[in-house]
Amino acid sequence: MSDPVFQKCIAPECGACYGVEEVLVACPKCGNLLDVQYDWDRLAPPAALNHFEKYWAQRDNPQRRSGVWRFHDLLPFTSLEKCATVGEGQTILQNSTGCARYAGMNDNALFLQYEGMNPSGSFKDNGMVAAVTHARLVGAHRAACASTGNTSASLALYCSCIQSMKAIIFIGSGKIAYGKLSQALDYGAQTLQIHGDFDDAMARVKEVSKKLGIYLVNSVNPFRLEGQKTIMFRVLEALRWNVPDWIVVPGGNLGNSSSFGKAFHELKTLGLIDRIPRLAVINAEGADTLYRLYNEKGLRWNGGTPDRETIAAFFEQMSQENRHASTIASAIEINRPVNLEKCLRALEWCDGVVRRVSDQQILDAKAQVGACGFGCEPASAASLAGAKLLREEGIIAPSEKVVCILTGHQLKDPTATVAYHSGDEQKFQETLASRGVMEAKFANNPLPVENDVEDIVRAIQG
Ligand code: F0G
Repeated sequence: MSDPVFQKCIAPECGACYGVEEVLVACPKCGNLLDVQYDWDRLAPPAALNHFEKYWAQRDNPQRRSGVWRFHDLLPFTSLEKCATVGEGQTILQNSTGCARYAGMNDNALFLQYEGMNPSGSFKDNGMVAAVTHARLVGAHRAACASTGNTSASLALYCSCIQSMKAIIFIGSGKIAYGKLSQALDYGAQTLQIHGDFDDAMARVKEVSKKLGIYLVNSVNPFRLEGQKTIMFRVLEALRWNVPDWIVVPGGNLGNSSSFGKAFHELKTLGLIDRIPRLAVINAEGADTLYRLYNEKGLRWNGGTPDRETIAAFFEQMSQENRHASTIASAIEINRPVNLEKCLRALEWCDGVVRRVSDQQILDAKAQVGACGFGCEPASAASLAGAKLLREEGIIAPSEKVVCILTGHQLKDPTATVAYHSGDEQKFQETLASRGVMEAKFANNPLPVENDVEDIVRAIQG
């Protein structure tokens, strides 16, 4: 390619390349996923990661203030001035002793990366800002996505802020947490409730966006995953450029895990880190496609030749059995992850493992994140539940440095939180028991008291 930045098919046997200006969500030649690739010899990558510290003093420049674009040198697919921003990526890495103890780790060994602090309340803004930037570059005026709620909230927010693009979102009816639905509606997105689940909405949005020429921002969009690399850059930044031992992340459509793998692979290739952390991808039990393929069928990236027959047979059987994803962690209620192959590649690059956790484990872990930190939505807590499981199995050692990615804000899904904590039997039965959650071990029940000072004082003093 004459341009040092290009799109490239991830299948080594194809490897077809396309220009940055092309709007593609799959390789036109073979149908596989695409990467954004950089010819670093012709670009100017940083010589060391502390290179980025000079940007800390440039917070009056919106792009340098952005937690995504201050790492522009590692995702330079367009010039810095052309990058959209609404101030995404102002997130925090918190050392949590309480969660470390819960997971059976040493007191200072576990970190929580709060991506819920993004403007729309989830990690999606990291990727959406990159996709929207690319959409503007190619002159798109309409952008669409299928979503379990956070991608749609993010797209809707960016469109409401930049005004030059219209958001069209596809959601499974009844499959989205209220906090997220309210965002899409409030930000003015055209919201289509499809009779079906996320996997149906994803299939339809691909067809419709192709038919109508609408820019697609789901994580099949390679530019989105470029933005999500910066979550890892900020983790390293917060650790003063030291590499942790483990990154633990919930797995749904598998965009995050894919982009984290790419981030570390690129950093290692550029000589900016000397080792790659291990990656743990955590499925919910009721949405465990990756777990089953990886651990039960032994599926691997295999240097770019995964066993595609095994994958096809797995999905065929799923269709025949009419099996649908089901978990309280609605954000990861996905059975047909679009980034499956990229995730397999990431697992190979990062010596990864895959685990699955029950809704009970997810909600108990979520209660810990709430009691010891800023809180998170159910899907996010799969990371802490997964770290605990891997610790119990002896895969993670107590002293290893573990970073759990908390992908979404606590307020995204108040229904699950209230059903867990309120002590309201009916809510518990309807929302949780129906999904196999037997008890709310860490419930913090509200106390009913009379409208009377003495009564209130007695209640407070126990
Ligand atoms: N956590 C949260 C809070 C999410 O919203 C999602 C995905 C994930 C984890 C899974 O991340 O897809 O990169 O493996 N939500 C998508 C959506 C599917 O539509 O908002 P992944």
